[in-house]
Amino acid sequence: MQLQIIVTLSVLLLCDAKLPRFKPHSQPNELPSNPPHSQGLGQLQAQSKTEKTSRIIDQYRVRHRREIFDSKSYESSLTWAHSERLDQNGDVILRWVNTDSSITFRLEAKTRGYVGLGFNSARNMRGADLVVAWVDDRNGNAQVLDCFGSEHEDRAIADDVKNYELISGYQNDTHTTVEFRRQLDTCDKQDFVIGEDTTQILWALGPDGSDGQLPKHVKSGARPLRLLQPVSKPESIPLNHWDVRLTNLTIPHVMATLFWCKIFKVPELPKKHHIVGYEPLIDSRPIRNNIPVVDPTSQSPVHHMVLYECAEDDDKHLWNTWSEGDGYFGPNRPSAWATCATPIAAWAIGSQGEFLPENVGIPLGEKGGVSYYMLEVHYDNQALHNVLDSSGIRVHYTSSLREHDGALLGAGIGVSALHVIPPKQKQYRTVGICSTECTQETLPEDGVNIVSVLLHAHGTARKISLKHIRGTQELPRISEENFYDSHYQQSRMVPRGRKFMRGDTLITECTYDSTSRDKPILGGYSAKQEMCLSFILYYPRTELAGCYSMTPVKEFFETFGVKEFYGLNFMQVENIFLSSGSFENLPPQPLMELEAQKHNVNETGEQGMQGDDQGVGLMKELVIWEPPEFRNKSFMAHLNEMPWAEPLLTEQIEKTLYKGMHMTFCKKRDDTWGVPIQIQSYPNYTELINNETSEKSCHYKSVRLPSVTKTSAGATNKYSWLTILALCITLIVAR
Ligand SMILES: *[C@@H]1O[C@H](CO)[C@@H](O)[C@H](O)[C@H]1NC(C)=O
Ligand SMILES: *[C@@H]1O[C@H](CO)[C@@H](O)[C@H](O)[C@H]1NC(C)=O
Ligand SMILES: *[C@@H]1O[C@H](CO)[C@@H](O)[C@H](O)[C@H]1NC(C)=O
Ligand SMILES: *[C@@H]1O[C@H](CO)[C@@H](O)[C@H](O)[C@H]1NC(C)=O
Ligand SMILES: *[C@@H]1O[C@H](CO)[C@@H](O)[C@H](O)[C@H]1NC(C)=O
Ligand SMILES: *[C@@H]1O[C@H](CO)[C@@H](O)[C@H](O)[C@H]1NC(C)=O
Repeated sequence: MQLQIIVTLSVLLLCDAKLPRFKPHSQPNELPSNPPHSQGLGQLQAQSKTEKTSRIIDQYRVRHRREIFDSKSYESSLTWAHSERLDQNGDVILRWVNTDSSITFRLEAKTRGYVGLGFNSARNMRGADLVVAWVDDRNGNAQVLDCFGSEHEDRAIADDVKNYELISGYQNDTHTTVEFRRQLDTCDKQDFVIGEDTTQILWALGPDGSDGQLPKHVKSGARPLRLLQPVSKPESIPLNHWDVRLTNLTIPHVMATLFWCKIFKVPELPKKHHIVGYEPLIDSRPIRNNIPVVDPTSQSPVHHMVLYECAEDDDKHLWNTWSEGDGYFGPNRPSAWATCATPIAAWAIGSQGEFLPENVGIPLGEKGGVSYYMLEVHYDNQALHNVLDSSGIRVHYTSSLREHDGALLGAGIGVSALHVIPPKQKQYRTVGICSTECTQETLPEDGVNIVSVLLHAHGTARKISLKHIRGTQELPRISEENFYDSHYQQSRMVPRGRKFMRGDTLITECTYDSTSRDKPILGGYSAKQEMCLSFILYYPRTELAGCYSMTPVKEFFETFGVKEFYGLNFMQVENIFLSSGSFENLPPQPLMELEAQKHNVNETGEQGMQGDDQGVGLMKELVIWEPPEFRNKSFMAHLNEMPWAEPLLTEQIEKTLYKGMHMTFCKKRDDTWGVPIQIQSYPNYTELINNETSEKSCHYKSVRLPSVTKTSAGATNKYSWLTILALCITLIVAR
């Protein structure tokens, strides 16, 4: 008997076992049977959309009630809410639409073999939820097979319970197209729960004709996506755009990290407009043999970009001159640029840009006269190439004003070398606080409405959450990511928004996995250093632009056992960190000096200049005097030599820095302080009890496969054949 047929039979058997069957006069049980009353219009519309989607699927399933499909009946009339290329060439396109409890996919893949799709928290197939689909070349029958990735090797194994339901499948001369659906949470330990967190979408294509046999794939990859995020697209009305970009900036190969600032003058606008979105403009040309070349395969060193609004227009002549110039190396920028403190757009690697929700716009050209903006571009040039760069941001704006004037607030941990993450830690947490005093002083009486949040950190961050404290009680998280991927930065809508009152506290918490590092990681702009920030979009706009904290200098060094340095007391060290009116900026260091410092490079095992080091250089130069056992060591050497593998030590440090004293900064748009810099203890509040961990009610939990091994000898054979076959599905390996 042909293997093919056995598989088909098994798949049919499995297919019927799990998902709720369609009954003509009853709703599928995932739909709310009574639409809740007193909902907002938006919600009602969302509701009816959801119902409509379900209805279309169900009607479709009635019309095509069979498990196999021939080539002519493959089109469902679903409206796909999302569509993404999973690979660079567009060989694999995933479209999907979801209801409150289920998700329907359409997968179009350039193969006449099988196509595999996987869901996981990591970029590999270990423990992943996998689904394999193909269309038989001989009879046009489509199949889906629910599998999971082995924990120990790159191998797919068939699930005990099948949770993917085939809707249709079709292949033409070049492509295999399948539609299938599943529950978001199948209550099956072998399946991934599709939720709000970032999901690594794995894919693999089998060789032609690999229907049913499923040999090793010929191509594979992974792409991070958040499947359930709402889409905010530009309006249909035409938008204007303003390109804010550098021109032909040469990035020298010695600079591993560089940040560059330039002033831009707003376009001439007779009245107030609204910024409604932005996109990155990436134009980086590697310089080879002194000639900049366009090479789409080379990776741009642009790592992130922030566009700030500048408050001061006093000396228009000076600002005009700046706007016509090339800009400045970050640490060398004129001190007046510190007034460019209100972020307007924050882009980071992996983002395709953002459009704001329909009721919010960020004012542009408000003053009627000129305004100035500062673009800050962070380059991460660890590959040490010479690059000619003209990157920037395309700002989309409109004259038809939206309901609310929005603004961005930066919060989290102030970027400095005082943000230390010890090496070899599985889960090390740090926090930045936006204090009660600050929000009390700067927010309006009615508070503000938070719309969306961009959570930002670098490569070792695994979780970021934005907590909301009112009085002594923690409220539900404003935003949270439990599978953070620094290569995928897209802001997150806050469902139904969040009212944030005067006097409330914000806490940005980051959790890092530094097990791959041998040396402590310090805060900074380089991709090898770390950050912990949230950019919060809210309305109505206020004077508050930035609200950060960091460990006070004295507490910081004492936590690491240092009592005194040669030459500088803690107060003087603190002043260096806080100098130039902005704690983000240390005293300027010209490029030449950085060049001269090259001899330091070996010391940390790093290569190339870290252009703006946020105090890392200072850490190397501070020499310990007290206590005597550390005397004559630089603080950096001391940090590097601490016994980090000792859990009692790192737990103590984590606790001291997390729950200890915090120096808080409350910065207004005009670069003045909303409240003076304060040193305060960690707020005292009752933590939110996380109900998520409690057992959810699972409707399908009891539905298992008919116990094939017990029914008949024939069935036993089918089942074991399937297992053997599935064990042979080799390698859906993400690079
Ligand atoms: C084959 O199917 C794919 C995906 O549906 C489609 O993009 C392509 O145009 C089709 N090719 C032909 C020749 O019809
Ligand atoms: C930037 O450099 C490119 C390539 O060298 C050149 O073609 C272009 O004219 C330059 N643009 C400006 C504004 O100098
Ligand atoms: C840097 O390291 C290399 C080899 O690792 C060594 O040969 C060189 O002397 C070192 N330079 C300094 C300044 O320490
Ligand atoms: C520290 O350095 C000073 C000057 O270089 C030296 O006199 C002193 O003996 C050193 N102390 C220790 C403990 O190594
Ligand atoms: C925190 O607040 C609780 C209840 O208000 C109080 O019992 C406790 O002593 C406080 N802790 C600190 C460290 O202030
Ligand atoms: C947690 O669950 C309890 C009982 O199940 C419920 O009363 C409470 O409101 C829930 N809390 C939150 C924050 O959802």
